[in-house]
This record gives sequence, C-alpha cells and structure tokens, in this order.
Amino acid sequence: MAELELDQLVNVVLRRVADRLGQTPDRSRDEWQPALLVAGNWKMNAPGGGAGEALVEFASHLALAPQTGVDTLVFPPATLISSVRSALAGAGASTEVGSQDLHWEPSGAHTGEVSADLVLAAGATWTLVGHSERRAAGETHDQVKAKLHRAVASGLSAVLCVGEGLDDRTNGSTFRVLRVQVQTALAGLALRGVTPGRMAIAYEPVWAIGTGRVAEPAQIDEACAFIRTVAGEEFGAAWASRLRVLYGGSVTEESAADILAIDQVGGLLVGGASLSPKRFAAIVEAGAARAQNLSAQGGGS
Ligand code: 13P
Repeated sequence: MAELELDQLVNVVLRRVADRLGQTPDRSRDEWQPALLVAGNWKMNAPGGGAGEALVEFASHLALAPQTGVDTLVFPPATLISSVRSALAGAGASTEVGSQDLHWEPSGAHTGEVSADLVLAAGATWTLVGHSERRAAGETHDQVKAKLHRAVASGLSAVLCVGEGLDDRTNGSTFRVLRVQVQTALAGLALRGVTPGRMAIAYEPVWAIGTGRVAEPAQIDEACAFIRTVAGEEFGAAWASRLRVLYGGSVTEESAADILAIDQVGGLLVGGASLSPKRFAAIVEAGAARAQNLSAQGGGS
C-alpha cells in the first residue's frame, strides 16, 4: 500500500476513535473548557531592549495582574528565553515562555536555527509555528507541518498561526486558505495523542497584523469557528470544542475585552502591545474579567 494511502487510512480510523471518545457521556462541555490563553509575541524586540531590569519590570507587572481563569505566555527572541523565564519565576508569575520558531530536525548542520530540545533546555514550554512573518520569508505548508509535529513529539506545546492575506480576503479565498493551512499542519497529529490544552491555533489575518486594523467581530467569529471545524476533522468534534482558537492582529488594551467577548475566541496573540508591561498586563486583566464573566454564566456564552 502506498504511504499516502496508509496515512489517509490511519487518519480515518483515528478520527472515528476521536469521535467515539467525544461521545463519552457525563462530561458536559463546560467541565472541559480550558482557561483563556493570553500570549505575547515580542518578535525581534524586547521590553527595554531586553535589559535585565526591563525584564524584571515586565515580570513584576505581570505577576500583579489578576490571572484567574487565564493562562499567560510570552514568546521572546530565542536568546532571551532563559532570562525571561528567570525573571518571571523571580517575580512569582505563572506565565510560561515559548520560542517563536523551531527547526523540524532534532539537531544537525542547520546554521542559525534552534531545535525543540534547545529551546526546552532554555526553559521554553511552548513554541509558535507558522507565523505569517515566517511564511512570508518562504516557510512552506509542509515545513509548518513538520515543525508542529516535531514540537509535539518533543513535548513542547504549540500555537499554530494561520491567516489569510488581504488579496485572499478580497477575492473570496479566506476559507480556502485557512483550510489548507490548518488541514496540512494538523494532518496525522491525532496519532501523537496531543491534548487540546497543549495546542492552540491563532487566527491572525495578515492584513490586521501591525496595521492598527482589527478584523470585524463577525469576521473573527466565523473564521475561528471554521478553524475549529477543520481541526475537528482531524481530532474529532469533542477535542475541537476544547481547542483554544486565539485572535491576533493589532490587539490593544482598548480592543481586548471586545475581542474576548466573541463567542469562538479562546484567547489572544498580541504583538506590539505585549512589549509594554502595563499594556500587556491590562490585556491579561481583560482576559481575567472575561473568564470571570464566563464562569458566572456557567462556562459558555
Ligand atoms: P500586532 O499585535 O503587532 O498586530 O502583531 C500580531 C502578531 O503578529 C502576533 O503574533
């Protein structure tokens, strides 16, 4: 049997098993909802340029922000993972640290790259995969898939980033683009037994990143719902209902609460505003307020 056919067969079987598991009675959707996830992607920047005192200040602001019902996470440049992790631990913040990228090979002659094991050793527990800025630099769908599978196999949790460009949006290709990005990256991942808490998918429309233009609530809601549906084709509906689908693209402390109020949104991936300790802490606070609101409503909106 050709390798592809075998792969497809395995996927069908796994999907059926996942769907069966999803039908397990006695577990209401509410009990299974994970906390909201508020993450900051510093890109090739760091608060105060990455100086030790600036990281300590960042960590202490974050430690003070109410974080009940919110998981927090920052993605500093790779060289700062270890010092950011120490600063957060020193301030008593529960925030985890992630890598912005990783190579799909475990080690080898790949000058300038970082492996999953190297970022784990530096203190990272998460990684971003497939950010549009990396895709724009030539990263292919298959490379994104290989990175995601490597991350999961190595014990890193991962945020898969997807999103359409402006041309895709204007020519009506948004859902086709999202389907290819999500489906390719997730193919075969159910085999690895990843739990929904160890993964998130960030919907980041390219035209909203760094532009000051936030997607409309209806656009965010339908894109996130679609991403969840496509994820469910790999993992089953019950798994997908617990997946955190984040929104990213020009999120600020002013817009955070409204975006978090969108039904399908399970958190935020914040770029520019995550570099300011005060602004990021305010966004985390908006997450805590939304989590409180959700729990008062009995876990769903
Ligand atoms: P901005 O919040 O700066 O638009 O960046 C979003 C982003 O790319 C997060 O990964």
